Amino acid sequence: MRHASPVVRDPSTGLWMVFSYEDVQRTLSDWKRFSSQQGRPRGEQAQSPLSSSMISTDPPRHRQIRTLVEQAFTPRQVRALAPRIEVLVDELLGAAEKHGQMDFIQEFAYPLPVIVIAEILGIPATDRDAFKRWSDAVVTGDPHGSREMAAYFSTLIEQRRHDLGEDLISGLITAQVEGEHLDAQELVGFCMLLLVAGNETTTNLLANTVLSWQDAPAAYDAVVQDPALLPTTIEESLRYRSPVQSMYRFTTEDVELSGQRIPANSPVLAWIGSANRDEAQFAQAQTFDPARTPNRHLAFGNGVHFCLGAPLARLEATLALTAVLERLPNLRVAPNAVLTPIQSQIVSGVKALPV
Ligand code: HEM
Repeated sequence: MRHASPVVRDPSTGLWMVFSYEDVQRTLSDWKRFSSQQGRPRGEQAQSPLSSSMISTDPPRHRQIRTLVEQAFTPRQVRALAPRIEVLVDELLGAAEKHGQMDFIQEFAYPLPVIVIAEILGIPATDRDAFKRWSDAVVTGDPHGSREMAAYFSTLIEQRRHDLGEDLISGLITAQVEGEHLDAQELVGFCMLLLVAGNETTTNLLANTVLSWQDAPAAYDAVVQDPALLPTTIEESLRYRSPVQSMYRFTTEDVELSGQRIPANSPVLAWIGSANRDEAQFAQAQTFDPARTPNRHLAFGNGVHFCLGAPLARLEATLALTAVLERLPNLRVAPNAVLTPIQSQIVSGVKALPV
């Protein structure tokens, strides 16, 4: 598609598909022409807290919300989470290690980011199980569970207003820019956004890295010998098997991309997964090469909406995979494993990964 029809309209849905690196980069970053706010679904979903979160907002409102949120979610605060994440990784791997085999997703890559987010938000340990259930519901788009989660966050936020702590919700309540705070709906929306944007994506980054090692066993042996190769391995995994494959935008005016005119008010799908395999940008793009440099992948997006959680995702992946390399140096995907892809245009991963 990238060569033959780099920009194409799907006649059945009216959706414009964008495939090349250059066009995807432009679609994601040119917010004046490609809006994240307009063209959102009407009805119940439009009223949901998520639709008022910053990922569905354009500047200048987006900048105001993002500046507020960045006060509470700084790279320094993320770095401070490292010791706690190491303990969680240790506990999860310890439990799984005993059997000699495990479902890498169910027992490790899935619970880790959910527990980390719960701890960042200061969810009481007694609410953990319900939190996990609702978190699944939010990610799968189940409206009942999502409403329960929104109600839970509303109550928690009200409690925190009277009893501020060190957690992210308390930080978001007190954060302000030019005297302005996030309102209750925006606070709930942000908490929900963290679950949707941060959990399944990080799970898939971990599992997709194991799958990439299966494609290139020499790369696995090399990083076991020299763990200093891990950071570039993670970047290559983000490029080669991008956890987020595509993002929506909506044109605000007529736009030309690769010689195609996309009319105003059209929905557009920017294919990050395709851009990250574009030979015009990456030599040997179909090869998993952890030594690739430079590696300017678009896995975390581009421009004003660049992933807020990228430092956390990288930290979690580094700590989780460091422990895997140390403790499971002979890790292999089970020979009889049936790898069922997740059915989604947006995320890329498998449902279970026996190792
Ligand atoms: C935005 C990918 C992990 C929070 C984004 C975007 C991408 C992305 C592509 C851009 C969306 C757009 O342009 O419309 C990923 C990937 C992850 C990951 C691949 C893991 C490997 C996380 C984590 C968190 C997080 C761990 C938080 C805990 C967010 C938020 C935004 C965002 C809040 C919206 C930023 C904005 O609108 O300004 N992410 N993400 N992400 N991500 Fe991530």
